[in-house]
Formats: sequence, structure tokens, C-alpha cells
Amino acid sequence: MKKQPIGVFDSGVGGLTILKALRRELPHENLIYFGDTANVPYGGKSKAAVTRLSLAVARFLEDSGVKLVVVACNTASAQALPALRKHLHVPVVGVIEPGAACAVSVTRSRKIAVLGTQGTVESNAYVKEIHKHLADATVFQQACPLFVPLAEEGFAEKPAAELVAREYLVPVQQSKADTVILGCTHYPILKNLIARILGPHVQLVDSADTLARSVRQFLYAKKMAVSSGKGTVKLYASDAPDKFTRSAQKLLGEKTPRALLKKLHYEDLHG
Ligand code: DGL
Repeated sequence: MKKQPIGVFDSGVGGLTILKALRRELPHENLIYFGDTANVPYGGKSKAAVTRLSLAVARFLEDSGVKLVVVACNTASAQALPALRKHLHVPVVGVIEPGAACAVSVTRSRKIAVLGTQGTVESNAYVKEIHKHLADATVFQQACPLFVPLAEEGFAEKPAAELVAREYLVPVQQSKADTVILGCTHYPILKNLIARILGPHVQLVDSADTLARSVRQFLYAKKMAVSSGKGTVKLYASDAPDKFTRSAQKLLGEKTPRALLKKLHYEDLHG
């Protein structure tokens, strides 16, 4: 059981920020990453569609023998986690719970802002999770859909990204939040820009680091962690694996293996 890999998935390349954090936090673990590049973005899709896609990806990971599924995608975590936990036989860890817990632990003003996709914002998943820990917290949410293509296209440091970010972040600044959750896999790629605009008095919660720490805690608590040897990484993409490989090598280093193409099988949900 211990030696089995950890499965990680996202709608595309954004979750590689989480894979990177997992590799840092758990260097002995074998990791399988699936980027659903055929169906990205998940952010504007219905809950039913996100659930169906997430389940297809998670089933593939389960069939590959993983001991744990990490849902790196915030939209999938926000909308499909209950269905994944119901239908899979292995434990499933999402990104919302650790991100919300981290924000609650650092806020002093009890004013927290969440940046996410339309789907994540509409689900109120972060709001509900924050209120479980801090019932009187004020939570402001802002959907930032244009951040995803900007990150995907490598525009994080270009003037266009700054223009868009300044626009999105005006209401966040007005909310007077002292803590801002980067509630989307792609947003850590724009972290420096967001930090520059919001200023040093605002604490950014990066879902990559918080999720990796919580996966580590989970594995050690359940005695499922591997504590020696060098872990491996295997990458799959549901479309354009070469483009995906280039993004992965940019983010994770040139020695990152090529992504393999894996088409998904979708199933209908019954209850
Ligand atoms: N991976 C998604 C998330 O973290 C962002 C990209 C998308 O919309 O698919 O919410």
C-alpha cells in the first residue's frame, strides 16, 4: 500500500504547481499526474459536467493503482469532492479544506478574500469551509477567469496581466481583507504580481503549499508514507501531450518525463 503512487489531477497544467509542492514535501513518493487538457477549463462548466469529468480522471488514477487521489483543481474540489469520495475506494484529498484552514490561521482582521474561478466562487465552498472554523469571518469572493489563460500563455510578467489583475483586485482591496486565498491552481503562477498590487500588509495563501503539507500529514497519520528512496513522476494528458510536456518541463525542470496521451472514458452518474 505504502509503495503505491499518489494520484494528482487538475483540469490542465495549473495543478503542476501542486505537483511541484508535493515533490518538495514528499520527495520519496511516486506521483502520477493527470492534466485533463482535452476539457480545460473547468472553471465555467456546470457542477454536473465538472463532476463527470473529475470522476473519469479519478477512476483512471484509481485503476492505475494509486493509494490516494489529490484533487489539485479548486473547481473540482469545490464541486465534485462529495461525488469523488462516494464513488472511489481510495481516500480523496481536496484543496479547499487546507486552504481555508490556513487562511483562518493567519487572518487577524477576520476579513478573508477568495480568488477563484466562476465555479469555485458560485459553489461557496471556501466560504462554508472558512465559516466552519471562524463563524464570524467576513469572506469576500472574486472570480478572476482571465488569470487562467494569462498563466497558461506565460503572460504572468507582461503588462496585460498587470492591467487585468489591477481591475480584478480593486474590489478585493476595497474589502479590506488582510488574507487572500489564491483559490485556483493557476493563480500561484501570478503570485508575485498579485502580491505587488495588494501590498505587504496582505497575506497570500498559496493552495499549492497548504495542500502539499496536508497530504504529508495525512500520509504520515495513516502510516501510508514512503520515507526513503527517490520518488518518480509520471505525467498523463488527455490531449496535446507534447504541449503539456513543454509546460511541465518549464515548471518542473528539463528532466521531467514526457507526458503520455490518455483518453478518458466517461460514465453516467447514478445517484
Ligand atoms: N484548475 C482550475 C482550478 O483550480 C483552474 C482552471 C480551469 O478553469 O480549469 O479551479
